[in-house]
Amino acid sequence: MTALTLSTAAAPGLRADAIVVGVAKGSASKSGDLVVAPGAEAVDHAYDGRLAGLLETLGASGAEGELTKLPAPAGFKAPLVVAVGLGAEPGEDAGYDTEALRRAAGVAARALAGSKKAAFALPVEDSGAVGAIAEGVLLGAYAFDAYKEGDAKAKNGKAPLGEAALLGGKPRDAAHKDALARAVAVAEELNRARDLVNTPPNDLTPEAFAAVAQAAAKEHGIKVQVLDDKALTKGGYGGILGVGGGSEAKPRLVKLSYTHPEADKHLAFVGKGITYDSGGISLKPAGHNETMKCDMAGAAAVFAAVVAAARIGLKVNVTGWLALAENMPSGSAVRPGDVLRMFSGKTVEVLNTDAEGRLVLADALWAASAEEPDAIVDVATLTGAMMLALGSRTFGVMANDDAFRTALHEAAEEVGEPAWPMPLPEHLRKGMDSSVADIANMGERMGGGLVAGLFLREFVADGITWAHLDIAGPAFNEGGAFGYTPKGGTGTAVRTLVRLAELTAAGELG
Ligand code: BES
Ligand code: MN
Ligand code: ZN
Repeated sequence: MTALTLSTAAAPGLRADAIVVGVAKGSASKSGDLVVAPGAEAVDHAYDGRLAGLLETLGASGAEGELTKLPAPAGFKAPLVVAVGLGAEPGEDAGYDTEALRRAAGVAARALAGSKKAAFALPVEDSGAVGAIAEGVLLGAYAFDAYKEGDAKAKNGKAPLGEAALLGGKPRDAAHKDALARAVAVAEELNRARDLVNTPPNDLTPEAFAAVAQAAAKEHGIKVQVLDDKALTKGGYGGILGVGGGSEAKPRLVKLSYTHPEADKHLAFVGKGITYDSGGISLKPAGHNETMKCDMAGAAAVFAAVVAAARIGLKVNVTGWLALAENMPSGSAVRPGDVLRMFSGKTVEVLNTDAEGRLVLADALWAASAEEPDAIVDVATLTGAMMLALGSRTFGVMANDDAFRTALHEAAEEVGEPAWPMPLPEHLRKGMDSSVADIANMGERMGGGLVAGLFLREFVADGITWAHLDIAGPAFNEGGAFGYTPKGGTGTAVRTLVRLAELTAAGELG
């Protein structure tokens, strides 16, 4: 991954392939002209104060995501200046929005693939900006080329930006150093979550995923327990076994326990980890199964968040539950019409084997409930319906507690992950009434994302605060890269979970 340093160096003498500067649309009082953002004064000075004018000549507007390259001024060691748009200039007393900085840094880092070193001369007003720029660089520089060989690798595979110096960052300031270390921990784990999502399902089986979790847990002092299919059978995990029954690759339930000796709160994160979702006997048609390796993105996010919390050393206990199974059709697969006896003891009539996520999550939610954590958050690529409702960049937040739902929504917005609250309308529950079992795994088609949420709610023990993040939209980017988000696995929800853990550790939550 890109190496990051805080640097007090001056731009002109820097040995680098490029210097990144920020440009914004001037606020109305300044007649809407392009403005060079703070941090780039030395660069602008070397152009005799004409940088904004030069960029305007080149067609720059300061819009978010915009990138303009120009030759560096005479006397600079670096040959290139890269200007990235930051959107509207903030008002008098406000600083640049952290998400605008994160995105701009990401755009620049992505454009600088193939370069060895770049200096980032973006506005650094406080440690929040340091963290945001660092995250943007590390997330934007991400590339997944593990499966490209020979010619394909040479053609497409420019190596990620090697090194980034954050100018204006103070290497001796504790807050700046902490912000950088936090950003590195979160971004490295988030990028690992992306790797897991992008890894093809013939290689990332439940067993392989569990092995990755075991190795990481060992490295970071996290306790780990893996239930294999034998242990799941013995324990009565009917949901996970039912879903995983059709595959040669047997299911696993992984429990990761990060504990801090002074913690007084306990969070449980539960992730849907369907390593491939073919739909099972209710097989998905072509056109709907090509990206279904992403159906373990919830488990990947939970895994990344627990490891990041451990690396940062948060004063809160966090347990991660990864419900891992492959949903395949075969002679041993669960059938539409089967009844499963779940870990909670409830029975479920499986009407559609493609509604499998809620079945594995139900067992993991019940297992998480047994430890009586202060709150449970599950993360899942659960429904196409949520994607229809919110599009491909926003995840839905449902909860059995209004304040907790709001807290999650706010945490998500704060870290730059678009999210939106969704209801759990009681009237949709009766659509899941079954004539043979306690509940069916399908209900009304309309509001399918909410129906799935209502199903999950039944497997959270009474009295436990719970929220559900349906990340089916933003988990996998089928379009082009934007901001710091690459094509493919995005790592969505990792930063929201880490933020929630931080707020809980700081006692700023319930
Ligand atoms: N994994 C899918 C949901 C999904 C769809 C995730 C598109 C990402 C992109 C889930 O298991 C599923 O198949 N859900 C069904 C539920 C239905 C059968 C009740 C759906 O949404 O169609
Ligand atoms: Mn499915
Ligand atoms: Zn699924």
